[in-house]
Amino acid sequence: MKTDWIPVLLFATTGLVVAKESISAYRQKKKEDAAFSVWLGNHRQEDVWRGWSSLQIPTSTDSGRLIQYGHDLIANTAQYLGPQGSVAQISNGMNCQNCHLQAGTVPYGNNFGKVYATYPLFRARNNGIQSIYDRVTDCFERSLNGHAPDTSSREMQAIYAYIKWLGEDVPKGSKPNGTSIMKIKYLERSADPGEGMLVYNSKCSSCHGKNGEGQPSPVGAGYSYPPLWGPHSYNDGAGLYRLSNFAGFVYNNMPFGADYHQPQLTEEEAWDVAAFVNSRPRPHLNQDRDWQLIAQKPVDFPFKPYADTFSEAQHKFGPFQPIKDEQRSLQNVTK
Ligand code: HEC
Ligand code: HEC
Repeated sequence: MKTDWIPVLLFATTGLVVAKESISAYRQKKKEDAAFSVWLGNHRQEDVWRGWSSLQIPTSTDSGRLIQYGHDLIANTAQYLGPQGSVAQISNGMNCQNCHLQAGTVPYGNNFGKVYATYPLFRARNNGIQSIYDRVTDCFERSLNGHAPDTSSREMQAIYAYIKWLGEDVPKGSKPNGTSIMKIKYLERSADPGEGMLVYNSKCSSCHGKNGEGQPSPVGAGYSYPPLWGPHSYNDGAGLYRLSNFAGFVYNNMPFGADYHQPQLTEEEAWDVAAFVNSRPRPHLNQDRDWQLIAQKPVDFPFKPYADTFSEAQHKFGPFQPIKDEQRSLQNVTK
């Protein structure tokens, strides 16, 4: 009789042990969940657009191969179209992806997510409707300080095919989070090139060079670290020459390795280093025909004339909020 209790007892103790284990596993899980929510709270987890990897390009078809060529032109522009380009010599040696990170796929890395969904569109800089080809041409003429291949060329068609492939799932007219460049908060003061020089020397010059000249790639065309000013950099008609674009880009992406979850600069450092870099010499572009509707110039467009009363210097370095406020009230008067 006594022996019959042994399995029962064994069963009961095992039961107790299992129950105790599962309670402590449950507690452990709760602890981990709590730690995970703290981590989530400290890291921005927005629903952002992220582009396809180039490994997903369907390269077994002709149209896939055109998309792949478009990707390669964006990633290695210099090899095909730089000063010693194999197809043409029409740009400054930079690659599109120096500014459109990982071929335009990175959240807040100046990506191409909204391009196919939003173009053609009216652009005040160009005083008219702009197509994707026109926008790409702008970057060739300004950011790459050169000129664009013909619209009918295989190169332009390939770049178009790649941008379309990246963005064709984005609903027409919508601008998903994380596309292009983040607008960061204006400073209350003007951005300070002197402070920016200190930021530059401590956080940028190790890669981009003491004189902003960058470092050419030891293998092939292009740069290991692209130039930030001087004759081989973007010209003063380029998007990055506007302080808000430069500050928003570097805030989320520089020093290289930073991303929008973990910016490595403060917003002040981003504005100040933008003021420093954009005060250094660079190629000039005649922009007389841009922004014919002067009231539509962005607050940080650094060349007169303006519809408001602020100086060129304030339009270059800020503070920008007072300009924005006056622009708003001017618009209300004319309405
Ligand atoms: C020196 C930096 C730089 C380089 C190099 C550059 N771009 Fe750009 N690009 C910009 C900036 C800045 C913008 C404007 C972003 C904004 O206004 O939000 C832009 C905008 C664009 C846009 C429109 C994006 C949008 O969301 O509306 C396209 C398309 C584009 N570039 C294509 C190219 C292509 C193709 C190349 C290479 C031939 C290139 N870019 C090279 C800086 C650059
Ligand atoms: C560890 C090296 C490194 C550091 C440090 C670094 N960058 Fe960069 N930067 C890069 C690389 C590499 C690219 C090109 C990215 C690519 O092609 O994928 C780049 C691209 C850029 C670009 C766009 C391309 C151009 O040449 O105009 C800007 C603007 C820029 N960096 C600004 C800065 C600023 C400002 C700092 C300091 C706050 C900084 N970077 C620090 C490596 C670096």
